[in-house]
Amino acid sequence: MQPEADTLGFGAPAFERVRRLIHEIAGISLGATKRTMVFNRLVPRVEATASADFRRYLDLVEARGSAERIHFANALTTNLTSFFREPHHFPILVEHLRQAGPGAVVWSAACSTGEEPYSIAMALEEAGIDERVRVIASDVDTNALRAAQDGIYRMDRAATVGEERLRRFFLRGDGAHRGYARVRQELRARVSFRQVNLVEPKWDIQGPLAAIFCRNTMIYFARPTQLEVLKRFHPLIRDGGRLFAGHSENFHYLAGHFLRALGKTVYEPIG
Ligand SMILES: C[S@@+](CC[C@H](N)C(=O)[O-])C[C@H]1O[C@@H](n2cnc3c(N)ncnc32)[C@H](O)[C@@H]1O
Repeated sequence: MQPEADTLGFGAPAFERVRRLIHEIAGISLGATKRTMVFNRLVPRVEATASADFRRYLDLVEARGSAERIHFANALTTNLTSFFREPHHFPILVEHLRQAGPGAVVWSAACSTGEEPYSIAMALEEAGIDERVRVIASDVDTNALRAAQDGIYRMDRAATVGEERLRRFFLRGDGAHRGYARVRQELRARVSFRQVNLVEPKWDIQGPLAAIFCRNTMIYFARPTQLEVLKRFHPLIRDGGRLFAGHSENFHYLAGHFLRALGKTVYEPIG
């Protein structure tokens, strides 16, 4: 059900303003059908900031240097992820890394709550890849990033990796931590975290990279934004790196330009 236009002043103009702002801040193109979702996700922020209504709240987000911008973006990002999501990518990555040197770096460029970079790290461990091969993991969402860094998951999520991996790579909590498992320190040591907003002009990332995982994120970006980001990935992986995209992200429109599709949503740079 659509929220009533007069509920905290959330009418069509406020929704349009949210759409414009989240595009400006995080490159996310919110569909016109997302009005109820936006309302439900932002009401807690309207309340937390003691804003009288949406108009006042959005004034706050828009104010120059506003600290609310990141909370606004955190509320609107979709963090759905899982361990070993799209499992076919991990053996391809491992094979690719066998030829890479010990200083190779894999960037998980929208890591959400950490399942993706820890899956990469587990795959590297299992394949006996040199421990100097590192994973950098980043996201725009500071809440997701904090959870990723903690590496603590509810048992039902952690258990999806299977009994053997659970034993090898996780510590089961007891006492107050019963029902949770934490990624072991040895595995966490392979991964370093930082905040990177893919649509901001500066990224704290140095190439060359052996691989970039940017999966299930570009789907929220309009094509011109996708193109901008992909153009910036290119020099980072130019020296024989790979780009791993999500299952519903198709960059075939770039064919013959600067990325070549290798199949299974894996790309290599050309030129
Ligand atoms: C659906 S999750 C995908 C997580 C993981 N890559 C996977 O495939 O399971 C999308 C992630 O993209 C992040 N994201 C959205 N816009 C972003 C931006 N402009 N810069 C960096 N990360 C962004 C969100 O915060 C979210 O954690």
